[in-house]
Amino acid sequence: MSKFFALIPAAGSGARMGNELPKQYLALNSRPMIYHAICTLCQNQFIAGVFVVLAPSDGEWHKYDWSEFSEKLVVLSCGGLTRADSVLNGLTAAKQKNLVDSNDWILVHDAARPCLTSIQLDKLINELSIDEVGGLLAVPVADTLKRCSNTENRVAHTESRENLWQAQTPQMFRYDLLTHALRSATSINVTDDAGAVEALGFHPKLVLGDAYNFKVTYPQDLALAELIIQKRNNP
Ligand code: C5P
Repeated sequence: MSKFFALIPAAGSGARMGNELPKQYLALNSRPMIYHAICTLCQNQFIAGVFVVLAPSDGEWHKYDWSEFSEKLVVLSCGGLTRADSVLNGLTAAKQKNLVDSNDWILVHDAARPCLTSIQLDKLINELSIDEVGGLLAVPVADTLKRCSNTENRVAHTESRENLWQAQTPQMFRYDLLTHALRSATSINVTDDAGAVEALGFHPKLVLGDAYNFKVTYPQDLALAELIIQKRNNP
């Protein structure tokens, strides 16, 4: 029987947040941001283990108490230069430690998406566990899209948003396909796991998520995530 594992690449510096502290450690509801995703993933009934991939130079992780997650949470200090490198290094390390099998499902989730819910997670797993390829949470694009022509921020033209979706995480693929895709993608500029799988000619499935599962990228996103989590804790 294939198992389900989550992997959180958390070796980025989060430069766009304009903060010295890597964004996965920024305070969100009195916890480091990454805590919230770890909590949702560790509490999920289907997920057998959660791997967190840290930068080898990480000096923050040990400052917090993670004992509530016991052995379900495994830290791998092998992050790489890019997100794809961090995911691939984490997968390789997990296999070397005999923690995963080739046929197991891996759900890669960004540390910077703290508002993931167990409802979305269950939906993703239920829709994809019988899928040939795998897929990802995503939402159809709601806004009108403008292509910018030059440095003066003038509109060149309006892009059609028909059939356009915004990719989120978790992105769920079997261990073998995902590692093969990421190894093959080293020369291509892939920004997510599905992109690497697509480059092999596969068509990952889009599973309808919701806008709450946004990525904290800029300082104002942090305030919004805090409001959402506070509201959930005190409905
Ligand atoms: O920077 P961005 O928001 O795209 O990063 C997405 C995720 O990838 C974050 O969780 C970040 O920590 C992780 N990452 C990583 N290794 C890198 C760069 C980013 O694990 N070298």
